[in-house]
Amino acid sequence: MSYQAKDYSKLIGMKGFSETLLKNHFTLYQGYVTNTNKAIDILEQMQKDGKTGTPEYAELKRRFGWEFNGMRLHEYYFENLGGKTALDHYGPLGKQMQCDLGSYEGWEKDFKATGSMRGIGWAVLYQDNTNGRLFNFWVNEHDVSHPAGCVPILIMDVFEHAFMLDYGLKRTDYIEAFFQNINWAAAESRLMPAKEK
Ligand SMILES: [Fe+2]
Repeated sequence: MSYQAKDYSKLIGMKGFSETLLKNHFTLYQGYVTNTNKAIDILEQMQKDGKTGTPEYAELKRRFGWEFNGMRLHEYYFENLGGKTALDHYGPLGKQMQCDLGSYEGWEKDFKATGSMRGIGWAVLYQDNTNGRLFNFWVNEHDVSHPAGCVPILIMDVFEHAFMLDYGLKRTDYIEAFFQNINWAAAESRLMPAKEK
């Protein structure tokens, strides 16, 4: 079964994000979906043809994680945008932030610092599925430094294509715009149920 690109056009009009930037970003995301499907098809054919011991198979196998995560991370990103209300600091996510990071403000400062690091990739708030603890992670490109088994709660794209058209090199201004549009309900819905912690 092939993956289908999702429609995020409802995000057009979001304050701080131009229509051109968003449309370019949607096109880029659709490319990851196409390439994920292509990689699956080619790898399956190579398996049938007995070519699994070849360098070509090995290279595409490595590439698969990059394409797949490029698809999935963008889905998490677009789905945690489009919000209009601030996080309830006394809700489940706000309370967990207080527990693990001292305060919402402490979490926000660290998340912004993570997203401001030099390099291209993602800032991700992850929840450890073994104990419910929250961590901010830097993910390099799409595929390096994901914590195994953890749940992504909030994802921010900091590849240059996510902001350069609107903000040039001012990544900090983009991060502020991102924060103005976080869909906290979507992020909170990704938290592990309390009973599983
Ligand atoms: Fe992106």
